[in-house]
Amino acid sequence: MKKIGVLTGGGDCPGLNAVIRAVVKSAAEKYHCEVIGFEDGFDGLVLPDRTRELSSRSIRGILPLGGTILGTSLRANPFEYKVTKDGKSEIKDVTQDVIKRISSLGLDALVVIGGDGTLNVAHELFKLGCPVVGVPKTIDNDIVATDVTFGFSTAVETATYALDKLHTTAESHHRVMVMEVMGRYVGWIALESGIAGGADVILIPEIPFDMKKVCGKINDRWDKGSKSSIVVVAEGARPFDGDVSIVASGEAGGQAVRLGGIGQKVGNYLADNTQKEVRVTVLGHIQRGGSPNAYDRILSTRFGVAVVDLIANKRFGEMVCLKGSKIESVPLRDVAKGQRVVPTEDGLVITAESIGICMGR
Ligand code: F6P
Repeated sequence: MKKIGVLTGGGDCPGLNAVIRAVVKSAAEKYHCEVIGFEDGFDGLVLPDRTRELSSRSIRGILPLGGTILGTSLRANPFEYKVTKDGKSEIKDVTQDVIKRISSLGLDALVVIGGDGTLNVAHELFKLGCPVVGVPKTIDNDIVATDVTFGFSTAVETATYALDKLHTTAESHHRVMVMEVMGRYVGWIALESGIAGGADVILIPEIPFDMKKVCGKINDRWDKGSKSSIVVVAEGARPFDGDVSIVASGEAGGQAVRLGGIGQKVGNYLADNTQKEVRVTVLGHIQRGGSPNAYDRILSTRFGVAVVDLIANKRFGEMVCLKGSKIESVPLRDVAKGQRVVPTEDGLVITAESIGICMGR
């Protein structure tokens, strides 16, 4: 093992740089192996001059840095790559170019750090014979093949601090404060930050909610003397008799649909039906940015070290994962087995309901 490549794909999250750093350091320390980085996800593999050497010097100071020093892309997929020729764009399969590139650069392996979309592309490349290994990332924590992804803990912490701030202004003005958080089609960020941040109502995609129950909870709190309330809504949550809220669909460079707007809808309904003063906050990309917390730095470092060991053992087509407290590996194809959803009949949902948090049911 002499040279490996690394890229980051999909949405960024705190801890990506910590993985890159661990890959570079352990490749050098344990295996005397060189690392090169590809810029902007799979774009870096397809386009010329988008590689850079990752030396111990170039990764200095990046452990606490948010985002990714390599850049990322949601759009770039070598199986469906957009090429523009003579002013016309078409979608092409450029995987054979990618395979040639990996071999002409003399790479023993390619480390792909990404969420489900990026890891599924990595798996398809592996099926074509590319020596690919994966590292799962996402603030949403929705990858089924690992107990936890890095970035999630920091996102929960950010949302929790935001809720702490909303509490004080809610109490001063006797208001209902609704906060919409990210998470795509799972409610992990909403549930964990809601519990940690003392929310009164938490609405998640896994439990289609009944607005009458939510209004009942708010009114009951007022009747019992609590003149403010905190409602956390996951962006993918929906009423039992309605649909998810979508801000945009089919955007260039984005996911198939961009979720958002449910916080405002819940806020409007509460204002109309409880006669309380309501304000809505959409936390947005603040949850994705900034420095990873200690937990995410450690998990990222463990993943980075473990993925280099996978390469040394020629375990291509696999990705590192966390099972309980141990770092293990699973085939990349396991990523496609579904989403890691919040269980609704045990665990944290029951903990939340046991302390009186309304889950909208
Ligand atoms: O998957 C991470 C995530 O932040 C989701 O929680 C959110 O729905 C989406 O990405 C936002 O994507 P974009 O950066 O394209 O707005």
